[in-house]
Amino acid sequence: MTTTPATLRSDLEPVELVQGSDDACPADQLGTVPLAQERAFAAWQQDIPREYLHLPAEELDRRIRRARERLGERLVILGHHYQRDEVIQYADFTGDSFKLSQHAAAQERAEFVVFCGVHFMAESADILTRPEVTVILPNMSAGCSMADMADPDDVLAAWEEIAEVVGEHVPVVPITYMNSAASLKAFTGRHGGLVCTSSNAAKAFAWAFERGEKVLFFPDQHLGRNTAYALGVGLDEMALWDWRRPLGGLTPEAIRRARVILWQGHCSTHMRFTVDQIAKARAEHPGVRIIVHPECRWEVVQAADDYGSTEKIAKVISEAPAGTVWGVGTEINLVNRLAKQHPDKTVFCLDPVVCPCSTMYRIHPAYLAWVLEELAEGHVVNQVRVDDETRRWALVALERMLALP
Ligand code: 13P
Repeated sequence: MTTTPATLRSDLEPVELVQGSDDACPADQLGTVPLAQERAFAAWQQDIPREYLHLPAEELDRRIRRARERLGERLVILGHHYQRDEVIQYADFTGDSFKLSQHAAAQERAEFVVFCGVHFMAESADILTRPEVTVILPNMSAGCSMADMADPDDVLAAWEEIAEVVGEHVPVVPITYMNSAASLKAFTGRHGGLVCTSSNAAKAFAWAFERGEKVLFFPDQHLGRNTAYALGVGLDEMALWDWRRPLGGLTPEAIRRARVILWQGHCSTHMRFTVDQIAKARAEHPGVRIIVHPECRWEVVQAADDYGSTEKIAKVISEAPAGTVWGVGTEINLVNRLAKQHPDKTVFCLDPVVCPCSTMYRIHPAYLAWVLEELAEGHVVNQVRVDDETRRWALVALERMLALP
């Protein structure tokens, strides 16, 4: 088995690309087109061999199925709920970030885990799987802009500044959202903290408050605020740390007073949902139930009837009686899939022009076909590997999460 690093290929001939900005919203064209016709392809991983650029969806489907058959039980494909239908159909397991991390940890036989999701999820899978398991991300440019808002150096600087203000005798527990680099997960493991996902954030905060006086939560301010508020922490007991400013833009007094310090990060997809959209949905659909993801703003979560992880949203709608109407505040691929799976209910997205998560969307079937065909030929491409020292401490933080009651 050889490993080919993902480097830019200089032997590629120029191809005619449909130009678009990185985050061009393709919500109006969610069906799979050949890779070269994707509006944002120019910003995606480029070293995919040229032969994959123009393959139509049917040909990619045939090739993915054939490669999967050849790999048999040596391969497990994990798919996050935000993946497009043309990718999620191949997943052996689907789920939210938490469920997928449990599936990664439970793999006893597979040699390869192909993670159809984003980079931080593949990193977590690498940490949680046996050392001999190879984890692959089909498109290495599938990152997460929210995760990128917490730079490890900035977090370390914040940690030190906060300790200086509150004093070493005041225990601060760091919690990182799953949507963060492995090095930040390791940071929380090393400093007595843990990882959480949107489905266990409340338990993680409760765990932290049993051990410390304050929580430093990164990188999603909204998940942190919604979770702490639900546990009885007042908005006036939370401070927002602006990582671009000295002392987070806070006064020493505000830091001392805060029980929760929230990193100023956000998810651009969930920021699109508003209280006005909820009011409009209620006016147009009497009896509608509103369910949103906790990465939405606090006032949006307050105005909704329920909130939860992607897995919870899917479960609540699946278990709802026929005839019910659901306005949903999360990524469009999941909402569309739920609408299709439940024709006896009305399921719609609160934002009529919501975009797919632009980074989850980068797992185009052409990338999946490429990495699987290479694997079937004995070549590993796009391996995600966390170094041993980072892995050791990140595992501590992830295992604390997995052990939450
Ligand atoms: P879930 O854990 O709810 O699937 O959320 C993952 C995510 O990245 C949302 O932006």
